[in-house]
Amino acid sequence: MDTIIIEGGKPLNGTVEISGAKNAALPILAATLLVGGTHTIKNVPDLRDTRTMLKLLETLGASHKREGRTVYVDTSGLSGAEAPYDLVKTMRASVLVLGPLLTRAGYARVSLPGGCAIGARPINYHLRGFSCLGVTTTLAQGYVEARCETTMTGATVYFDIPTVTGTENLLMASVMARGTTIIKNAAREPEVGNLIDMLVAMGAEIEGRDTDRLTVQGVQSLQPATTTIIPDRIETGTYLIAVAATGGRVDITQCEPTHLPALTEKLRTAGVTIEEGQEKFTVSCSEQLADNRCRLESVDVKTLVYPGFPTDLQAQFMALMIQADGTSIIHETIFENRFMHVAELQRLGADITIDGASAVVRGVEPTGLCGAPVMATDLRASASLVIAGLAARGTTEISRIYHLERGYENMIDKLQALGATIYKGSSSLV
Ligand code: EPZ
Repeated sequence: MDTIIIEGGKPLNGTVEISGAKNAALPILAATLLVGGTHTIKNVPDLRDTRTMLKLLETLGASHKREGRTVYVDTSGLSGAEAPYDLVKTMRASVLVLGPLLTRAGYARVSLPGGCAIGARPINYHLRGFSCLGVTTTLAQGYVEARCETTMTGATVYFDIPTVTGTENLLMASVMARGTTIIKNAAREPEVGNLIDMLVAMGAEIEGRDTDRLTVQGVQSLQPATTTIIPDRIETGTYLIAVAATGGRVDITQCEPTHLPALTEKLRTAGVTIEEGQEKFTVSCSEQLADNRCRLESVDVKTLVYPGFPTDLQAQFMALMIQADGTSIIHETIFENRFMHVAELQRLGADITIDGASAVVRGVEPTGLCGAPVMATDLRASASLVIAGLAARGTTEISRIYHLERGYENMIDKLQALGATIYKGSSSLV
């Protein structure tokens, strides 16, 4: 099984280019099902998850081709409306085909995604929203079957929790519904805005972008469009934190600085210098220690929906706080089990205590972090272990790196170009 091997303790220097956002590409690829024709999508990251979504579109009868960073998806030949378990179990975002298939075909049968390492991940708000539009949903044999005998009818949908993919699913289900749909307590993440831009380019009528109240006027028809995926703010945040954890000075380009308001504030408070430019960050230490590292102050963090601190950067930020001066409290409010990285960070010498939904992180001297074999448990936990391995002295070997490959394009190449000693290994033990 492939592993990643890191010889830690080196500062990162140079320039890294950010890829398109995984969590924008997935709903936008699913949205190509809304209407037959060839859709052009630019800046699509080549990841395990985007490849899985394209495979799912293929099983539904679509064809696709990639030319560099652009993917062309032809959904003229829709021949099915079922997302099978073997695909959905590898990527829960497969549930995003529900909304467009209901609009296109009035029917969809999608395997329930099941839980994952970070939580139960139910889709009850998606299903309740569809029901408001007149859809009948039934659960049987691990699948959800959604059907609407006639055109869906616009309605008011309220989300108890501003679910990101729930908002995206309801947008795609309501764009051709009869009448007006209002989505209250909608998610405001930039990836939702990127999907809205695509839907509007296709002819949809949507108001309220970037707010928690979206109004959709159903239209009679849509046309394929050209869409560009926004930069990945979570990848950007991961590299900001990696430089803060190892020292050095890095230009992060082709990113969108305005999409990371909470992280940049927390990093500056911790003692990291962050300069913002046009589609660019420059990150370095405000005060360097003898071994080129940043002098870091402990900072408390509470994960919240956008524009609060992203849950998808919680594990990475923890990998920074394990070497800060003092104690930081990291409170996870979005998912019920997103501390799987703690036990692995402890293997590298971190001093962390979990107290319910909070982790108490007592910073240790950077010299106290020593490389060791660790195991990735989920996508962002993997990134956390890479950051800690880059900071620790000695060799860290990370197993189950298929988690990492789901959401980070060419991470090993990008880090090698910044001066890290990181490469792929293989171990028969894992
Ligand atoms: C999206 O997941 C992202 N994935 C996640 O990124 C991200 O962590 C999450 O939003 C929160 O920002 C994609 O966009 C593909 P939610 P999603 O629905 O939509 C509960 C990554 O690492 N909930 O906003 O599945 C849910 O259990 C991934 O890139 C219900 O109870 O998240 C969670 O506690 C991980 N019922 C909370 O709401 C529902 O019907 C937020 O979930 C839906 C959600």
